[in-house]
Amino acid sequence: MNLFTANDQVGDVVARFPKADDIFKRYQIDFCCGGNRPLHTAIQELALNEEQIIQELNDLYNASVTVEEHDINWNDESLNNLISHIVNFHHAYLNTTLPVLGELTTKILRVHGANHKELAEVHRLFHSLKMEFEQHLIKEETLVFPRIEEFEIGKSRLALEFAFEAVEELEKEHDHCGELLKKIHAVTEGYFVPADACETYDYTFSKLEELESNTFTHVHLENNILFPRLRVARNESFA
Ligand SMILES: [Fe+2]
Ligand SMILES: [Fe+2]
Repeated sequence: MNLFTANDQVGDVVARFPKADDIFKRYQIDFCCGGNRPLHTAIQELALNEEQIIQELNDLYNASVTVEEHDINWNDESLNNLISHIVNFHHAYLNTTLPVLGELTTKILRVHGANHKELAEVHRLFHSLKMEFEQHLIKEETLVFPRIEEFEIGKSRLALEFAFEAVEELEKEHDHCGELLKKIHAVTEGYFVPADACETYDYTFSKLEELESNTFTHVHLENNILFPRLRVARNESFA
């Protein structure tokens, strides 16, 4: 996935992904005093290859996260580490990808909708999914996750109870997002790209497939690891 773009602020990239400093140092991109400007500007000033640097950043990020995600036993990590990973990788991915896919699904509907009636359904399903995800992420990041962090740091039973009470609703929202993704999968016949498709069509379907895969892991981390750990903590606190 491509998390970083040339529009990102140099300093923000390093804040979100500290290993980016290796690449910036190699290209002599100033991320300390010159961090408060878009990558595009910094790269242009040094007359460097923008596409190559953005690609390197995304490749390094993907490689790091893949190793991290598969090598870490999230049951052994603190709840705060698990939440940081979910927010910094999966939520950040959605915040970057959903607007892009919103434009792409609209664009292919406009260009190919007359010959491919299913694209209207893809557009409708995706935009429902986008809206539901946006609200879901806000709920997790502003209401639920801070309470879990509060519980872990201060052992607040009240905070744990608040977070636990939201779990059922969050699980239902996961189920609904999963259903929408399954419908998109079915209506596109597994993201099958027809012979008359253009590059944008092809790219849109590959991004939808990537969204499905990223979401499976995201929901797995919450449904199968984070929420059961809250249940255990709650049972222990009442024991
Ligand atoms: Fe989430
Ligand atoms: Fe979630």
